[in-house]
Amino acid sequence: MSELHLVAGGSGFIGSHIVEGLLAAGHQVRVLDNLATGYLKNLAGLDCEIIQADAADKEAAADACKGVSNIFHLAARPSVPWSFEEPRLARHANLGTTEALIYAAEKQGVKRILFSSSSAIYGDSPELPKTEDMEPAPKSPYAEHKLFGEYALAEAAERFGLESVSLRYFNVFGPRQDPSSPYSGVISLFARWLKEGTPPTFFGDGKQTRDFIYVKDVVKANLAAGQVQLSQSARIINVACGKRVDLLELWDTMCRVGGFTGGEPIFQKERKGDVRHSLADIQRAQEELGFQADFALEEGLRRTICSL
Ligand SMILES: NC(=O)c1ccc[n+]([C@@H]2O[C@H](COP(=O)([O-])OP(=O)(O)OC[C@H]3O[C@@H](n4cnc5c(N)ncnc54)[C@H](O)[C@@H]3O)[C@@H](O)[C@H]2O)c1
Repeated sequence: MSELHLVAGGSGFIGSHIVEGLLAAGHQVRVLDNLATGYLKNLAGLDCEIIQADAADKEAAADACKGVSNIFHLAARPSVPWSFEEPRLARHANLGTTEALIYAAEKQGVKRILFSSSSAIYGDSPELPKTEDMEPAPKSPYAEHKLFGEYALAEAAERFGLESVSLRYFNVFGPRQDPSSPYSGVISLFARWLKEGTPPTFFGDGKQTRDFIYVKDVVKANLAAGQVQLSQSARIINVACGKRVDLLELWDTMCRVGGFTGGEPIFQKERKGDVRHSLADIQRAQEELGFQADFALEEGLRRTICSL
């Protein structure tokens, strides 16, 4: 059945792919975005309504939620370094948006919020893989804001029965990830450096590991989470491939897949708040959402490099 869904942060990298996925599934889509880090060009050719406003503004959020079934909430400034530099602005963008959208959901009778949370919540504890029941150990204001967002959603479930799924994404990559930002995802930066022939810079020794997931798989997880019957444990779910790769290995793979000869790596000091290793346990995603990533890393990289 066709429903109207709100995508907050829909003109960003992942959000624009979710808009595309919802439209392809036959739904109507409204986007709420203040274009802080998103671009209207990401929505070019997509038949959706666009409201340009701050999702942390309660009344703007409530207006945007009129007639809406689900909110796909991606509105945030997804940067650990920026959250240290501008903690107040980061709180507004990363937690204020969640609070306002919960207010809007209550006011307009929205059924469910699909919250783009983050693996940053797990911090740097040595245990791998990360399971959803682990004690959170956020290392940055960004990670704290995501965790407080999850708590606010749990409280809203108690208070007025709002359904929600917090999807803890690991490292997402794919076409439309913005490489012009110094805070952008590592794959989009690597892709830019490869294209320009710039030697790669590693913060630390390059042996940090990450669990990468292609953006179309993140869309698949969101669409499934919007539809499934929710059990109590489905409220927080890791979204990842369940495999990890270190950054030096990733660089070599990208050189090979793209047919590039990379320059000599430059090593700089580790960045504050960066976690050393990251790997998801994906059993809950499989059990609750029937989710399994479709794209292997190399295939995702090929598509990302081709899109440049
Ligand atoms: N990219 C990743 O690897 C990753 C990993 C974990 C979690 N996430 C989360 O996924 C979501 C999307 O990330 P992305 O990589 O697509 O980033 P992005 O910066 O491309 O998208 C974020 C979007 O939110 C919008 N936005 C920011 N503040 C807003 C506000 N106050 N009101 C309205 N819109 C606002 C931006 O303009 C942008 O369009 C974020 O919530 C992020 O924290 C991303």
